[in-house]
Amino acid sequence: MSDFPSFPPGFVFGAATASYQIEGAAREDGRGPSIWDTYSHTPGLVADGDTGDVACDHYHRYPQDVALLRELGVGSYRFSIAWPRIVPDGAGPVNPKGLDFYSRLVDELLSAGIEPAATLYHWDLPQALEDRGGWRTRETAERFAEYTAVVAEHLSDRVPRWITLNEPWCSAFLGYSVGRHAPGAREGRGALAAAHHLLVGHGLAVQALRAAGAREVGITLNLDRNLPATDSAADLAAVVRADTQHNLVWTEPLLAGRYPATEEETWGELITGQDFRRDGDLELISQPLDFLGINYYRPIVVADAPYREDDPARRVATDNRYQEVRLSGVRHTAMDWPVVPGSFTELLVELKDRYGDALPPVFITENGSAEDDEAGPGGTVDDVDRVAYLRDHLTALRAAMDAGVEVRGYYVWSLLDNFEWAFGYAKRFGIVRVDYATQRRIPKASYHWYKAMIAAQRG
Ligand code: FCB
Repeated sequence: MSDFPSFPPGFVFGAATASYQIEGAAREDGRGPSIWDTYSHTPGLVADGDTGDVACDHYHRYPQDVALLRELGVGSYRFSIAWPRIVPDGAGPVNPKGLDFYSRLVDELLSAGIEPAATLYHWDLPQALEDRGGWRTRETAERFAEYTAVVAEHLSDRVPRWITLNEPWCSAFLGYSVGRHAPGAREGRGALAAAHHLLVGHGLAVQALRAAGAREVGITLNLDRNLPATDSAADLAAVVRADTQHNLVWTEPLLAGRYPATEEETWGELITGQDFRRDGDLELISQPLDFLGINYYRPIVVADAPYREDDPARRVATDNRYQEVRLSGVRHTAMDWPVVPGSFTELLVELKDRYGDALPPVFITENGSAEDDEAGPGGTVDDVDRVAYLRDHLTALRAAMDAGVEVRGYYVWSLLDNFEWAFGYAKRFGIVRVDYATQRRIPKASYHWYKAMIAAQRG
C-alpha cells in the first residue's frame, strides 16, 4: 500500500516497554525496593502521587500482553529486567522467583514467534545500592556486572538481543543533577561521576554478556538533536555544551575511545577536578558493540543563558548555562515536545558523518508520542495524531537509511499506556489503551495502523 513507508527484507519491527512502567507487583515474589519505588512514594515528586505499585499489572497479565504482540505481528519485543527482582538487595543472594518470571516471559514470546530483546537497566536501581552511593560510586558498576552475569547465564541461550543501559543521560543528569528522576539528587560532580560509572558498568556488562555467549550486545542512548535558537555566537556555544552533555559524553567514549574534547568548556572545574576516571576505563567502555540503540522523540532548541551564581554546585555547569526554547510553528505532543520528523533523519545522518565505520548498525529502540487520547465507545481511541507521528517518523527513518545509515530495526514506544515517570499515568504513549480501573487493554487506531504497516512489508 502506497501510504506505508517500505523497509528492506529482514528489517525488524518491534514494540518496547520497561519493567517499572508496566509490571506492578512491586512487593511480590521477593522483589526488593528500587529507587523508583522510593521516589514515587515521596509526596510531591510524581504527578497525582502516582506510583508503579500496580501499573499495568503486566507481571500477572503478561500472557495477554504477549498475545497482543503476536496479533500485532511484530518480530521482536523489547522489555527490561527489574534488577531488584533478581538481586533484591543489590548485592548478595539471587532471587529465583525473579529469574523465573523473565524466563516464563521469554518462553511465552518465543512460542509466539517473537524475538525477545532485553534491557538490563531501565532505571530501577536497587535502593540498597543507592543507599551506598548509587551511580556516584564504582561499586554500583561492579554490582551491575554481577547481576548481568546472573541474568545472562539464565537467559542468553533464549534472548538474542541485549541492551545494557537505557538512556544513561536520564539516569545521570535527570537523576543526579536536575532531580526530576530517581534518586532526585541535585548535584554537579555527582552527576558527572554517575555518567562515568554508568559507562564503566556498561563495559563490565558487555564482558559479562559475551562471557555468557550473548549473541547481540548494545546500549541504548537518547541522542538529541540540539538546534541553536539563533545563529549568535553565544547560542552556538550553548549548542556545543548541550551536545557535549547530551551526546558526546556517551558517543565519544563508546565509539571513539576518548572523552569529549569540549568537556572542559562544558563542565569547567567539575570535570578537570574529577577523580573518578581510572586508567583502562576507556578501553573497557569502547569495546566493540553489535549495535547502537537510539531512542528518538524530538529536537531541542537551545539558547545561551547566564551562569546562575546562586546554583553553582547543585547542577552541572551545562544545565546552568543554557535553556530550552519552545519551537514555534510545529505541532507539539501532549509532552509539549515539538514534532519534527526531518530532525530524526538529520540526527542519524550526522551521527554517521561523525563516526563513519565506527558507528555500529543502529536499532531505533524507542520512538512514539504521548497524545491526549479521548476514549470513545468501548474505550476505542482514534489517535490520528499518533498515527501521523509514527508514519512520518518511519518515513524519516527510511530517508536516513537511503542516505547510508545502516538501521536494522524499529521499536515503537510503547506497546501499552504506562507509568510515564514523573508524569505518572497522565501521559499516554501506548498504541494499546490501558483502562487502569479495570486493566482492560484496548488497541488504538495506531495499533491497527502499525499492524497493517508491518503486514504491508510482506507484500
Ligand atoms: C524515554 C524512556 C521511556 C519512556 C519514553 C517516553 O526517555 O526511555 O521509558 O519514558 O522516554
